[in-house]
Amino acid sequence: MGDRWYSEAVVYCLDIDTYADSDGDGVGDIPGLIGRLDYLARLGVTCLWLHPIHPSPNRDDGYDATDFYNVDPRFGTLGDFAELLHQAGNRGIRVIIDLVVNHTSDEHPWFQSARSSPDSPYRDWYVWSEHEPSDRQQGMVFPGEQKETWSYDRTAKAWYYHRFYRFQPDLNMANPAVRAEVKKIMSFWLQLGVSGFRMDAVPFIIELTEPGNPNSPKDLDFLTELRQHVQWRRGDAILLAEANVEPDQLPVYFGDGGGSANRVHMLFDFMLNGRLMLALARQDPEPVIEALRDTPLLPTGAQWATFLRNHDEIDLSRLTAEQRNQVYARFGPDEHMRLYNRGIRRRLAPMLGNDRRWIELAYALQFSLRGTPVLRYGEEIGMGEDLSLPGRQAIRTPMQWSFKENAGFSTAEPDKLVRPVIDKGEYGYGKVNVTAQRRDPRSLLAWFERMIRTLREAPEIGSGSTSHIDVPTPPGVLAHRADGVTGTMVFLHNLGTDDVEVDLSLLQPEADQPIDVLTDRGYAEVGKLERLQLAGHGYRWIRLRRGH
Ligand code: GLC
Repeated sequence: MGDRWYSEAVVYCLDIDTYADSDGDGVGDIPGLIGRLDYLARLGVTCLWLHPIHPSPNRDDGYDATDFYNVDPRFGTLGDFAELLHQAGNRGIRVIIDLVVNHTSDEHPWFQSARSSPDSPYRDWYVWSEHEPSDRQQGMVFPGEQKETWSYDRTAKAWYYHRFYRFQPDLNMANPAVRAEVKKIMSFWLQLGVSGFRMDAVPFIIELTEPGNPNSPKDLDFLTELRQHVQWRRGDAILLAEANVEPDQLPVYFGDGGGSANRVHMLFDFMLNGRLMLALARQDPEPVIEALRDTPLLPTGAQWATFLRNHDEIDLSRLTAEQRNQVYARFGPDEHMRLYNRGIRRRLAPMLGNDRRWIELAYALQFSLRGTPVLRYGEEIGMGEDLSLPGRQAIRTPMQWSFKENAGFSTAEPDKLVRPVIDKGEYGYGKVNVTAQRRDPRSLLAWFERMIRTLREAPEIGSGSTSHIDVPTPPGVLAHRADGVTGTMVFLHNLGTDDVEVDLSLLQPEADQPIDVLTDRGYAEVGKLERLQLAGHGYRWIRLRRGH
């Protein structure tokens, strides 16, 4: 293990309310999650990312908090949360939580006070305008569900700014009191023992909003301040930021350009995500090669977080219209599978037609690319989506644990569940569940366990440097390598469906007893790397050599 734990972590994200319900009220809770930690440890997870845990009216699945210093009573108590941190730690699992401080719920006492009077001590904690801002109908994040970014509040007799839904008023980060409060919130959770934060909506947190200016200035130094604060309070805590911006704007989120990584430790690689989807749709690795080539170089210590699926729609907005249409045609052919004119609200298994070879290929590829892999709950067993649910809820259905009623998620009456379980068809819990897959050494779950164990033995992927191996390969094949102090790994992934042969003999001089460590099937030995067989949708992870 290298010096920095996050570089070699396997992150698993989940919503407490849909994971495991211990008391039969239909809502997942912290004791339920504690009961599943052994499952996560066996899977090989080293870091849990919990979606918002705070009290919330839940109009945006918890991304609308009413109290940053507590846990949602439906999930349990702060005591339960402290116990979770202890139990996870016992198993070598760290916990990071969503930090959603760009905005609060409009039911938050701060906003209730702020709107009540211009003299409220909290008035200036939010962003107001006396007059209707000219950019009122610009910058919406949820087109189709959101009509404006400034709404008139009759109680306040003023317009307030909300980058997201109208029930999520933005906090005013230009106000030093708000900045101090954000730091206090972070300190509180660090003190309890979290290992850091997934920071929600960072480009908007640092926005110094000016009414009428849709391109308000950004204060990136606030990130430097937060980094310093976090690192002083807990040396090994991290910031993992959501900043879905153009790639050339990303480096300043990692550091101030002086060469040091003095802002966030990790950023989700949204660009790679879109390119991965395009590559899978076209069965052509070129978009991934471009992504490897085009992504900015990171300062030392900075790291990408890779993902195929997260809790939101797959955001294809950074692809061209033509590329987006190719992905839609393949993975989201029906209008109701799409969202916000930019994305797809499906899980991976159904997008890939539940083709086991293709699913393995996709995840083997993600986990072998530079960065720290993030896996969404349920993907490890190939769960599906429920498109009859509105918006992003389609991919937020309860975890499917067993053949028991409600998929073993809860003992409540089905109509009391936080969200219906998928109980019909190819992805119903009768077919897709943990219990069945745990018993079957050939299951997708068993494959994930094996793949993650293999990753543990290949720290070059997380801590080393990754590059495309620029040799002629059959169409569909991506060859890349990861180099680090521990040695060199070489990867072949066939996005196409034809069986092929790949010649990597130019690597022979560097090789020292090269050997397959993860493959989709048994292949002839690596030998001199000149006639490497690769099945359609096949993959080979080869250790080329060990370091010292
Ligand atoms: C982020 C979250 C999303 C949420 C939004 C508003 O984009 O990923 O789920 O709705 O922020 O907080």
